[in-house]
Amino acid sequence: MNIIMLGAPGAGKGTIAALIKEKYNLPHISTGDIFRANIKEETELGKLAKSYIDKGALVPDDVTINMVMDRLSNDDCKSGYILDGFPRTIVQATEFEKALQKSNTKIDVCILVDGDDDMIANRLSGRRVCEKCGASYHIEHMKPVKEGICDKCGGNLIHRKDDTVDVIKDRLKTYHEQTQPLIDYYGKNGNLKTVSGFLGSKEEIIKAIEGILN
Ligand code: AP5
Repeated sequence: MNIIMLGAPGAGKGTIAALIKEKYNLPHISTGDIFRANIKEETELGKLAKSYIDKGALVPDDVTINMVMDRLSNDDCKSGYILDGFPRTIVQATEFEKALQKSNTKIDVCILVDGDDDMIANRLSGRRVCEKCGASYHIEHMKPVKEGICDKCGGNLIHRKDDTVDVIKDRLKTYHEQTQPLIDYYGKNGNLKTVSGFLGSKEEIIKAIEGILN
């Protein structure tokens, strides 16, 4: 099963993708995570990506598309994948579509995680992520068992640099201008399903996802 996760920054794409990964045993491919790993390792890609991410802008389409296609050519994607944060522009979506057609594959479902800007500002300002494994928590809504420590791997939880009030505003603006049109794009293709970003517990989210995927 090939899945795309679509939605505003902080709507809950990563959280839901991690639950799908656990339940359906599919690789979770987050373009944001790949960029952050490159920034940490100070690669050329990382240096380029940082200059865009720090100001809430998107990394150029050609760089992002090549990176994703490279990742999808790995063996672990042969039986399916969850793409979290890609495509994010119409150019990315149309180029990706062409590549899928060439390889005779398709996207089975695009899951839109729905939310409003107020919810998102709260989610992002309270988010803490594990610097080791990338797991995501919230200081009010999704607390780890031990404050500041990841339940999964024991790593330290940090506040992402782009989760500050000013950068959040820019990320939301970028989302509305460049990514929101993809809701129509995938809606017209007939494989768009919406899940509310307001769902409270993991059990509620899993139930909603099962309703879509089973
Ligand atoms: P990326 O890392 O993909 O950031 P994003 O899309 O802005 O999404 P986030 O990871 O911030 O949020 P999310 O929706 O996954 O929410 P989460 O589940 O963590 O990208 C970063 C940057 O990289 C971009 O700005 C761009 O510059 C660049 N980039 C990436 N992809 C690109 C592309 N394709 N093209 C060009 N550039 C690209 O949840 C948020 C918080 O809410 C957490 O604290 C979580 O615990 C909490 N939460 C989640 N769900 C719930 C719930 N149901 N109830 C209560 N709390 C919840």
